[in-house]
Amino acid sequence: MDFRSWNGVDLRYAVNRWNEGGFVAEATNPLLEDAAAACFRKAAARGEIWMSSEAEQVDEGRRHFLLVATTVTGLAGAGMTAVPFLASWRPSARAQALGAPVDVDISRLEPGAIVKVVWRGQAIYIVHRTPEMVATLSSSQVIDNLRDPDSEALDASSQKPLQPAYAKNATRSLKPEYLVLIGVCTHLGCAPLNRFEPKDPELGASWPGGFYCPCHGSRFDLAGRVFKDVPAPTNLKVPPYRFVTDSVVQIGADAEVV
Ligand code: FES
Repeated sequence: MDFRSWNGVDLRYAVNRWNEGGFVAEATNPLLEDAAAACFRKAAARGEIWMSSEAEQVDEGRRHFLLVATTVTGLAGAGMTAVPFLASWRPSARAQALGAPVDVDISRLEPGAIVKVVWRGQAIYIVHRTPEMVATLSSSQVIDNLRDPDSEALDASSQKPLQPAYAKNATRSLKPEYLVLIGVCTHLGCAPLNRFEPKDPELGASWPGGFYCPCHGSRFDLAGRVFKDVPAPTNLKVPPYRFVTDSVVQIGADAEVV
């Protein structure tokens, strides 16, 4: 399966996430949106990928977010950037239609890996952090370079916290090893890429591992906290979520109120 071209249209920018083994396809060039959408619909019709109902909708408020698809065949990844195949995750049609909470089985999410799912039309990233990844969150190399290390920023209009209170801690999570984020850059809405390996060749020797938004170069640590001197103004948001069991995360149900 090759999404790099379709009917002669170069889709490299539309499917740059695919090449990383990710679930989320995005169009950095609006001219590619129709072609990319058609490409994914055909693949879905062939049974090669499964598309959520949200996948065919372009969110005008987030101009770069185009498609979300979940593979059912042929997905392979390696090392810390691997995205495991979670066949068991598929929200019901009703849940998709209503934007109801969705359960994600993370029993096969290996340490160091990430899975990306859809909730209310947004990409949700779930990362199983290794002890080494958690350790970076409190290192001075990271903390000293963060814009809002304690996640104190408030929503500009409502003056309410931008995230659940249970995520306002050193790891921004209910459990240190599991990070749950909305995968939408707080600058202009691109989907940040996972760049978990320290010293990533593209990001430099000082890179501690985290997320990188290729649209305008914003950088975030392994808790989704934004680094200084990048366009993104605030940390990546944490959605409401809770653990139904040790191996099932429910996205959309707030741990504070359930
Ligand atoms: S949208 Fe992410 S840096 Fe601009």
